[in-house]
Amino acid sequence: MLKLLKELTEKEKQIRLIVGDAQKMKVLQDWLLTELAYTSNAIEGNTLSRKETNMAIAQNRTIGSKPIKDYLEATNHADAFKLVLELSKNNRAVTEDDILSIHKQILKGIDEEFSGRYRTVRVRISGSHVIMPNPAKVYKLMPEFIKWLKADKSFSAHKAFAAHLKFVSIHPFVDGNGRTARLLVNLILLKNGLLPLIIRPRDRKQYIYYIEEAQLTQDTSKYDKFMITAYIRSMNTYIGMFDEKVPDIQTNRLLKISEFAKEAGVPVSTIRYYLRIGKIKPISKTDGDYMLFSIDQIKDIK
Ligand SMILES: Nc1ncnc2c1ncn2[C@@H]1O[C@H](COP(=O)(O)OP(=O)(O)OP(=O)(O)O)[C@@H](O)[C@H]1O
Ligand SMILES: [Mg+2]
Repeated sequence: MLKLLKELTEKEKQIRLIVGDAQKMKVLQDWLLTELAYTSNAIEGNTLSRKETNMAIAQNRTIGSKPIKDYLEATNHADAFKLVLELSKNNRAVTEDDILSIHKQILKGIDEEFSGRYRTVRVRISGSHVIMPNPAKVYKLMPEFIKWLKADKSFSAHKAFAAHLKFVSIHPFVDGNGRTARLLVNLILLKNGLLPLIIRPRDRKQYIYYIEEAQLTQDTSKYDKFMITAYIRSMNTYIGMFDEKVPDIQTNRLLKISEFAKEAGVPVSTIRYYLRIGKIKPISKTDGDYMLFSIDQIKDIK
């Protein structure tokens, strides 16, 4: 676990650099719009593929004979994630209204009666031994949850995962608890300068299993490990998207004209000639006004 936490911290540092780059963030947000809708909805049982989800979101196209509901869930999730991005920019703590408005987007046009509303009925999760709090209690547990979120100002991804577990254990809605919980954890991560957690559909069984185990035993260690591993994987995906070749300090060293000529295997006079006719240009200058060339420019000479 210690090793995992160390890796988590390392990756977070790299992620904060990406988040600071507006251009990269634009690319990522577009990509995440489909990726999060596809993965989170697939966990919940939506039958659209990643490609079909993208068609629904990006081109507003329905897909063959797939249920209207699946299509709505895709566009709803995209809208909900846009809302999460908006909410992540404000500087206040997450509120009950934030959560209700995310949920409202999730069930928009699917269950108008209960979208954006806490449940008034008992729920049980099929196949689960856990008893969910009765509906009257939800109205007490939710403010308590928000208070807990706010109480300790310090942030860690670990705390975001703990929030996800607390939230799904209150299970405040008739339906859409999982999708809302996965957006909530991402709202918390984004608010703190990080990027979203992606839980892969293929990990659904484990995800559910470790939630249930944590609820039944109060031991969250396997749940934590699962979430941290999933988060490191998510961050690796983001880092990989922008992974340029690691610059080799040695080969990227800038050269003065004599060094450059030597590396290129031509006399300095030849370089000066190329400079005159505009075939090459120095990429920088020293403080003393010496021209500097990059080793990459040798191919321009050859
Ligand atoms: N003991 C449990 N077993 C399984 N899931 C649980 C349990 N406790 C909480 N959950 C959460 O409940 C979610 C399912 O609830 P619900 O059907 O309301 O959400 P959903 O968004 O419609 O579906 P899904 O969560 O499958 O996406 C699971 O994804 C999980 O996050
Ligand atoms: Mg459901």
